[in-house]
Amino acid sequence: MTHCITCSAPVNIAVIKYWGKSDEALLLPANSSVSVTLHQDQLQAQTTVAASHHFEKDRIWLNGQEQCINNPRIQNVIREIKRRARKQKTDSRDIAAERLNWKIHICSKNNFPTAAGLASSAAGYACLVYALKCLYKLEGDVSAIARCGSGSACRSVHGGFVVWDKGQRLDGSDSMARQIQPHTHWPDLRVLILVVNEQKKHTGSTEGMQVTMATSQLLKERIRSVPDKIEQITQAIHDRDFKTFAEITMKDSNQMHACCLDTYPPISYLTDVSRRIIHLVHCFNKHRQETTVAYTFDAGPNACLFLLKKDVKKFLHLVKRFFPPKTEEQDFIRGNTKQLME
Ligand code: DP6
Repeated sequence: MTHCITCSAPVNIAVIKYWGKSDEALLLPANSSVSVTLHQDQLQAQTTVAASHHFEKDRIWLNGQEQCINNPRIQNVIREIKRRARKQKTDSRDIAAERLNWKIHICSKNNFPTAAGLASSAAGYACLVYALKCLYKLEGDVSAIARCGSGSACRSVHGGFVVWDKGQRLDGSDSMARQIQPHTHWPDLRVLILVVNEQKKHTGSTEGMQVTMATSQLLKERIRSVPDKIEQITQAIHDRDFKTFAEITMKDSNQMHACCLDTYPPISYLTDVSRRIIHLVHCFNKHRQETTVAYTFDAGPNACLFLLKKDVKKFLHLVKRFFPPKTEEQDFIRGNTKQLME
């Protein structure tokens, strides 16, 4: 018999960034982080997992191309799932034994560019872990298992506003994500994604944060300052205080990219277009005499903008004026308004 399940998981956008690990093997972060998970159907990964003891071996396809199943991150996830399945009490020993003998076929696809700094691995691993959780009928939180695939993936396991606590234990068992507010908490918050470049990023986040960790003095200062920022942004989210939320988000993004430049050799993810977007946001806010738009950039040039529903039209008008699409297919603004809430 073949068991089959399909799940989807959305991208999350960090407003307090994860940049640097305290343990490379366990994927433990040097600092806690905060993110907003986008609403389903927009930027998401979809994964189908089929399991059977008739399959010869485990296999994986990503966007239609077969990948090497021996990838250590994928192996981490499968190993952790099986470890939890072994520990968990089941109604029948035979069923438990059968599950552990399964070989699995994983088929995953994204509806957005992979590896362009749009957190595709986060959605991908969160989705894979959730599908496996359902297939193996695991109980409890699986964000720590998603973390073993890609750190930021643990935050995509939850919807709404999420904190990933770095944890204290050396084995990483308390390094997991938790929801601080559901997606319904801030109904008029919107996210716009401006795709500057869909190409694969030149330095992946894993490698980039490794070199920053090893060489940047500024990162040490950043790590010290994160707990206060998390407290402040959590309060701002709780109060739906856009100004504070926006300012902390922009400053944190700037600080992460400053740490990348402080890395030796330096890493620069932002392009001239990214910098023009930053400038446009500050000009817009200055002109309005209040902070109404915030930007944040991950390990790539694409901008994620936060704003309130009432300001979307005005800001989009400005973006279209300053960054006219070259052709219709290359429309600069992909997917238009990414609505967080239904
Ligand atoms: C800039 O989670 O992709 O997007 O744990 O090595 O897989 P690994 O890194 P990854 O790093 C994401 C970095 C970031 C910031 C963030 O999402 O917090």
